[in-house]
Amino acid sequence: MKQGIGIIDSGVGGLTVAKEVLRQLPREDIVYFGDTARCPYGPRPSEEVRTFSLQMIDFLLKENIKALVIGCNTAAAVVLAEVTAKLDIPVVGVIEPGARTAIKETKSGQIAVIGTQGTIRSGAYEKALKKLNPKIEVTSLACPSLVPLVESGQLHDPEGMEIVREALLPLLKQRFDTLILGCTHYPLIAHFIQEAVGPDVRLISSAEEAARELSAVLSYRQMLANGGDVIHTTHHFYTSGDRALFASIAEEWLGIKVGAVQVALNE
Ligand code: DGL
Repeated sequence: MKQGIGIIDSGVGGLTVAKEVLRQLPREDIVYFGDTARCPYGPRPSEEVRTFSLQMIDFLLKENIKALVIGCNTAAAVVLAEVTAKLDIPVVGVIEPGARTAIKETKSGQIAVIGTQGTIRSGAYEKALKKLNPKIEVTSLACPSLVPLVESGQLHDPEGMEIVREALLPLLKQRFDTLILGCTHYPLIAHFIQEAVGPDVRLISSAEEAARELSAVLSYRQMLANGGDVIHTTHHFYTSGDRALFASIAEEWLGIKVGAVQVALNE
């Protein structure tokens, strides 16, 4: 049986990684777990984020995945190093790939990062950016109202625009030319974010960069799915929460039919 790419997130945010994997690696099968029932992870203590993340990973390992993407910045900030050391399959996070691209794109050397409280509190982006270039100026902002907005599915409501504008207000007084969407939920509302910060700011999707890194790692380790002209894929989507809401967001975002299965993880 073909082995798939495992992707975990606290909810629907990792679908932004899944979308990029579908686009960049169309021969690969995806096995996705979104812990929607316990989302958001952002305000939770690190130990809880660790426990929940390891539960999702155990579930996906039983599904026989060949690589894992921790498609959640909050989870990656807590468990990436531990899981990479423990597993013998490739493990890709979202923070370092996003940081690398931001450094490549910035002209002014001033980068802003938005994410959940957990991700911003961990300082993971700041550390990753400064490790690459200590001269980079970093402004970070936690935006706790944005994940609930995405999970509610109001991706095009004018009310959503107002929530985003308000959340980003403290950032608008700062100078930056590059903004890292340091939460995989945010690309789903990138249109609102771009409008709030203006057209001159370059948005970096950590999800897109993670898929690029996955592609490079699989290619280097000769683990890419092969095949001829016809592409055969079977994707599996699991959620711990509402199946119908998950499937409707996933179908809108991915543009494919999604038969989500509800699975309860141990508390
Ligand atoms: N999508 C998530 C992230 O990238 C987390 C959202 C949350 O659960 O707070 O951080």
